[in-house]
Amino acid sequence: MSKILQKAQEYENSSLKNETEQQKRLRPRFHFSTPVGWCNDPNGFSYYNGKIHLFFQYHPYSTQWGPMHWGHVSTTDLINWKNEKTAHTPETPADESGCFRGNALEKHARHLLVYTGVSKQNGIDIQNQCIAWGDGETYEKSAKNPVITAKNIPFEYTTTDFRDPKIFEKNGNLYMLCALKQKDGKGCLVMFKSSDSLAEKWEFIATIDKSKDGLSGMWECPDYFTLQDTEFLIISPQEMKANPKLGFHDGNNSVYITGKLDFDKGIFTRTVRPENNYTAAQIDYGIDFYAPETIQLSDGRRILIGWMQAWESYITPKENLWSGMMTIPRELSINSGRLVQNPVKELNFLRKNPQNFTIPSNTKGTISSQDNRHFDLEIEFSAQKGIFSLHLAEEKRSENSFPSYIEIKYDAEKKELSFDRSHTQNAGAISSRSVIIEPNSNGNIKFRLIADTCSVEIFANNGLTAFTNAFFVPPENTGLYYESTLNGEIKCQFFTLGTD
Ligand code: FRU
Repeated sequence: MSKILQKAQEYENSSLKNETEQQKRLRPRFHFSTPVGWCNDPNGFSYYNGKIHLFFQYHPYSTQWGPMHWGHVSTTDLINWKNEKTAHTPETPADESGCFRGNALEKHARHLLVYTGVSKQNGIDIQNQCIAWGDGETYEKSAKNPVITAKNIPFEYTTTDFRDPKIFEKNGNLYMLCALKQKDGKGCLVMFKSSDSLAEKWEFIATIDKSKDGLSGMWECPDYFTLQDTEFLIISPQEMKANPKLGFHDGNNSVYITGKLDFDKGIFTRTVRPENNYTAAQIDYGIDFYAPETIQLSDGRRILIGWMQAWESYITPKENLWSGMMTIPRELSINSGRLVQNPVKELNFLRKNPQNFTIPSNTKGTISSQDNRHFDLEIEFSAQKGIFSLHLAEEKRSENSFPSYIEIKYDAEKKELSFDRSHTQNAGAISSRSVIIEPNSNGNIKFRLIADTCSVEIFANNGLTAFTNAFFVPPENTGLYYESTLNGEIKCQFFTLGTD
C-alpha cells in the first residue's frame, strides 16, 4: 500500500473510532453517509464476488471538496453498508490532482475500475481516462495509465473537461462513454471501443449525442442501460436554465434520455418522453439529487443511487465531521412508458410500529410514534381544493415561539408539492423547491415519504415522480404536525424505520 493510501486509511479509521455516540446520532440511519470528510458522486456501483460495491468521490480530510480519492463500501442488502479500504488516492503522474468519477465491471474474475485521472499539463489540470484492477478489497492502477487521452480523439476539445467514464460490455467488446466539453463550451458524449482484454487499448467511435435543446453546458456522469426494452442514457448537465414547463431548474440537473444507440454509426437517436413531450426528463425534482449511477442486480432489478446533495446549496453544519450522503437505492421500472422509481423492497424490512389513521378534512394534529424522525409514511387522498401541510423535525413549540421546522406541502388547486427548509438554521442558498403532481387516473394523489435523520425522499403516485431533499436539524427536534384544509379525507399508513 502506498504511503498516501495508508495515510487516508489511517485517518478514516481513527476518525471513525473517535466518533462519539452524540456525533453518531447526527448521521442517517439507513442511508449511506461518508465515513468522514466530504463525498460527492457515487462511482463504480457494481456487483463483484458476491457483494454489491459502491465507491464514491471522497476527500477524507475536510467536509469540503478537495483532491479526489475513491472511498469504498459494500453491501449485500442495499441498506447496510460495510466500510472497505479507500480504493484510490491521487498519487500517480496520471492522477496526481485527483481520481474523478468512474465506473466498474467484473472481467476475467477481477474487478475492473475505470476513472478519470486528473493530471498537470503546463500547470493546468487536464482530464484523461484511467483503469485499475482489483479483488474487491485492494486495487492496482495500470502502469499504462492514462489509457485514453486527447491522442485518441480526432478533434479539438477542452482538455480540462473530459471525464466520467461509463464502461460496459456488448458483443464481446468493451465500450466506454465519456462526457466531454466541446470547443464551443457545450457538452457531448463520446464513445470508445476496445477489443483488448486488458482494457488498455481504445479506439474512438463517435460523438453519440450532444448538448442541444436547452441541455446546455458540460454534461457530467453518463450512464447507459436497457430497461424493459427501452434504452436509457442518463446525464447530469451543468448550467441549465430553468424551464418549469419541462421540469428543469437552474444549474445542475440530472436527466434521462431514451432512444436507440446505433453501435455501428455511433449515434444515439432520442425519442420524445411522455412525461413532458420533450427529449429529456428530470430524474428527481428535489433540491438534493445529482450524478446518479445504476447497477443491474443478479435478480434482474435495475437499481439507481444518487448523491443526495446539491453543488449549488451547501447545508452541512460547521461542526459536522462529514458531508455527503446517497439516496436510498431505487428500483427502476416503466409504467405506461414513464420511468418509475421506488425505494428498494429491502427497505420494507425496516418497517416497524405500524399505525393506520385518517385525517379528516379541515383538521390539525400531531403524529406521535416511537420515532418521529425515521419513518415511512404513505398518504392517499382525492381533493381538488385546499392544502395539506406537514411540519417535520419541528423544535418544541412551547420552548420557542419561532420554532425551526421543515415544511412539506401539497396545494390541491395548484397541484403543487413543495419542500421548504428556510425555517431551519442550515437552509443553504436554495431552501425550497416545488413540483407539479397531477392526480392518478383514478383521481387520487398518493405520496410515500421516507424520512431519515437528514433527508426526506418523496415518491409520488407509486414512483412516477421522485422529490429528494436534505436538511440538518438537531435530532431532538421531533415535532411532527399536520394540517389539512383539503376537501377530502387523507388515508395514512405510518411505520417507523429502524435498523436494529
Ligand atoms: C460531478 C463531478 C464529476 C467529476 C466529479 C469530481 O459531480 O463534477 O463530473 O468527475 O464530480 O469530484
